[in-house]
Amino acid sequence: MAPSPNDLPGGQAHVRPGIGEADFALALAVRWRVFVEEQGVPADLEHDAADAASAHVLAVVASEVVGTGRLVFDADGARIGRVSVLPDFRHRGIGSQIVAALEAEAAVRGFAEVTLHAQTYVQELYDKNGYAVSGPTFQEAGIDHVPMIKQL
Ligand SMILES: CC(C)(COP(=O)(O)OP(=O)(O)OC[C@H]1O[C@@H](n2cnc3c(N)ncnc32)[C@H](O)[C@@H]1OP(=O)(O)O)[C@@H](O)C(=O)NCCC(=O)NCCS
Repeated sequence: MAPSPNDLPGGQAHVRPGIGEADFALALAVRWRVFVEEQGVPADLEHDAADAASAHVLAVVASEVVGTGRLVFDADGARIGRVSVLPDFRHRGIGSQIVAALEAEAAVRGFAEVTLHAQTYVQELYDKNGYAVSGPTFQEAGIDHVPMIKQL
């Protein structure tokens, strides 16, 4: 049976690491629905080369994956990306739970800070989670983004 927001115990999802191909497929399914179908991001941009070397997390409600995000490691350090929650489950703190889980993953790996490119419409989500703007707005996949940073 499909999960419903009523399945959220105390309003929280369970956020866990994505491990292996099966979990990765579940993460991609959420990303496809949110970024490709809802936001119109081209499919060939959505799944990129960084996925293979990234850490992924899954937000689970009643055994169903309703959100995801990834931590990319590159020359600039650890960068959060692809944070996405299915529409019915938004505004319940799950996006913030995903961000916190990715920050914890970065800290475990020894990073002192994390960066991200926030879609400007949702910058407030990251403001609330302690991020500061670190540069000018730019376009990525045809969508306005702003670079942000947080010390861990
Ligand atoms: C952005 C997203 C992950 C947030 O998930 P969420 O589970 O709703 O996040 P939280 O409940 O932790 O935080 C919600 C807060 O984020 C901000 N926010 C979320 N959606 C917003 C919107 N459409 N407009 C303005 N602010 C928004 C608000 O501050 C909101 O607080 P509120 O619930 O009190 O209004 C989700 O809306 C999503 O998947 N959006 C589509 C994909 C996307 O844009 N991802 C961001 C890439 S940078």
